[in-house]
Amino acid sequence: MTETLDLEKLEQDLIAQVDQASNEQALEEVRIGALGKKGTISAMMKGMGKLDPEQRKSTGQALNALKARVSQAIATQKEVLKKQAMDLRLATEHVDVTLPARKRSEGTIHPVSQVWEEVVQIFGDLGFSVAEGPHIESDWYNFGALNIPDEHPARQEHDTFYFNPDKDGSRKVLRTHTSPVQIRTMETNQPPIRIIAPGRTFRCDSDQTHTPMFHQVEGLVLDSDIHLGHLKWTLTEFCKAIFELDDVKMRFRSSHFPFTEPSMEIDIGCTWENGQVKIGEGDDWLEILGSGMVHPNVIRAGGLDPDKVQGFAFGVGIDRIAMLKYGIPDLRAFFESDLRWLRHYGFSALNVPNLAGGLS
Ligand code: DAH
Repeated sequence: MTETLDLEKLEQDLIAQVDQASNEQALEEVRIGALGKKGTISAMMKGMGKLDPEQRKSTGQALNALKARVSQAIATQKEVLKKQAMDLRLATEHVDVTLPARKRSEGTIHPVSQVWEEVVQIFGDLGFSVAEGPHIESDWYNFGALNIPDEHPARQEHDTFYFNPDKDGSRKVLRTHTSPVQIRTMETNQPPIRIIAPGRTFRCDSDQTHTPMFHQVEGLVLDSDIHLGHLKWTLTEFCKAIFELDDVKMRFRSSHFPFTEPSMEIDIGCTWENGQVKIGEGDDWLEILGSGMVHPNVIRAGGLDPDKVQGFAFGVGIDRIAMLKYGIPDLRAFFESDLRWLRHYGFSALNVPNLAGGLS
């Protein structure tokens, strides 16, 4: 009888300890104190050897039942403590998911720089290297060497910025196109020549699609056996790559440039939807490139023999591509340095365009 009371008392005691354990560590100590090798219940079980068989049986049953209830109480309390600990962590370690992960860098890459780099990537992949020339050019490089003699009407079309005359009466110009780099490249390189020349160009013109300073890429390919097929393939590949399309509808339209013969302007198919242009298909056309087979006079002016060397050239407006590709309506905004515009149309400096990972 006393034993039963003792067991009841022990049970109340242990359950009270379990309930009071305020963390898992404390609970574990209670468990060891009761059920561990040297715990109270374990000790009582060991002591049963001294009892007579009848008592041993009843005490054994009672102890086993006690052990089961205490174990159950510990397990229940363990769950309660676990949940409390988790609730506490959730409350204190809570993350404001509406915060930006990292502060956005202040600067962005200008769309012109982005397209410039995209063009370099595409032609680099086709085996072209990048050539350069000065912004201030002589009349000869900008016009004469490109088969545009003094009286040629193309000079008027170019809205040239002229410098004051030098002592000898000649006037330097701000280059009106990147084509002078063709001549400079021929003077210093032997065929095979495969270059592009991206850079700034200048014309006295300003409206929604013209600014006094703008950007072009010149291309020049010269060798002994280059023909119109090479031109067509190269520029088709370029258009597909730059607009990131598998197929682009293209039109090679006969045209005239003094420095090429024959000359072609290249249009790409497009459609207009709600004032936005969609490139690659449709019944409208957008002119994006001037091109042709380099005129023999130009090859001669570059110091090469047109009977041995032939090839093609092209000129693309970088700003125009940027406007079309990224849906930017007004060219003048490109050069106004409006921070809101730059943030909106700019590119992350970490997304360097490449053909494997994607251009834009
Ligand atoms: N230089 C021309 C311009 O400024 C563009 C151009 C057209 C360049 C045809 C070329 C070409 O090399 O073959 O408008």
